[in-house]
Amino acid sequence: MHRRRLALGLGFCLLAGTSLSVLWVYLENWLPVSYVPYYLPCPEIFNMKLHYKREKPLQPMVWSQYPQPKLLEHRPTQLLTLTPWLAPIVSEGTFNPELLQHIYQPLNLTIGVTVFAVGKYTHFIQSFLESAEEFFMRGYRVHYYIFTDNPAAIPGIPLGPHRLLSSIPIQGHSHWEETSMRRMETISQHIAKRAHREVDYLFCLDVDMVFQNPWGPETLGDLVAAIHPSYYAVSRQQFPYERRRVSTAFVADSEGDFYYGGAVFGGQVARVYEFTRGCHMAILVDKANGIMAAWREESHLNRHFISNKPSKVLSPKYLWDDRKPQPPSLKLIRFSTLDKDISCLRS
Ligand SMILES: *[C@@H]1O[C@H](CO)[C@@H](O)[C@H](O)[C@H]1NC(C)=O
Repeated sequence: MHRRRLALGLGFCLLAGTSLSVLWVYLENWLPVSYVPYYLPCPEIFNMKLHYKREKPLQPMVWSQYPQPKLLEHRPTQLLTLTPWLAPIVSEGTFNPELLQHIYQPLNLTIGVTVFAVGKYTHFIQSFLESAEEFFMRGYRVHYYIFTDNPAAIPGIPLGPHRLLSSIPIQGHSHWEETSMRRMETISQHIAKRAHREVDYLFCLDVDMVFQNPWGPETLGDLVAAIHPSYYAVSRQQFPYERRRVSTAFVADSEGDFYYGGAVFGGQVARVYEFTRGCHMAILVDKANGIMAAWREESHLNRHFISNKPSKVLSPKYLWDDRKPQPPSLKLIRFSTLDKDISCLRS
């Protein structure tokens, strides 16, 4: 409304200015003294302020303080099913697999998966792929993207119909930290170059894990995060966030919803692009300042999910760790870390 008024005002001024200058040229010829000002500003235009209908952003950019959502809040056997920003928390009993199958199957979606298998981690490809073929998005188009420094180490696993595997050579780094920090960069570049044309949704998963039960379309969403199995029952002050203010991954004690695992995230391919690019930028800033966040890219992922809330949250059943005892509320483990000797792999 105000913009139109401004445009009208401007138009009027231009028109008035033009006609007056024409009049001036005409009058100049026979008026002995010039008393019509040559320049006629419309002062009100310069004092005009734009009053937009909506002066505040649709969503507050800085989230004010609010109580921490607790997965086991009400009864210890019943999980929270909705976040305070109304994103579903997916776990057993919150969805009907047959109904979702009927909804998603006709959409002919292609689901991408990225995994990184560098150095000794190539050992995990076989068990990852075999279990994914058995449980991951059965009956859908799936494209596995395996980033590796050793493409020859990828075992020949027979894939089901409409399931593809691409191995993408990447440089191995002498430090596993460096490989871990480069994951966001590699994924965002891969989406921009290629994956955005090939898949609808993309999950970025750790390779040293196996599927143990069906993982289906209930996990699809714009931006998807998974609750870390070690921190679903602790207060946000105890989350292992980056607590140094100098890091771009800094999280204050009063912030944080769930502590998400870096081993599982995903969503619509365009959203995953934005997300990984944002994390990569933040990592670059830290690098320029000589800082490595406490839990490397997982710290940045968690910082990013505080200001860019996931539209769907997966319960820790989608990101479990077999070395942990299973609480009664988490029976059907779908994707879990293998029991492995971390120190030997990281050396
Ligand atoms: C399903 O998607 C694939 C890949 O995007 C395409 O090649 C194929 O023609 C589609 N099938 C149908 C029935 O739309």
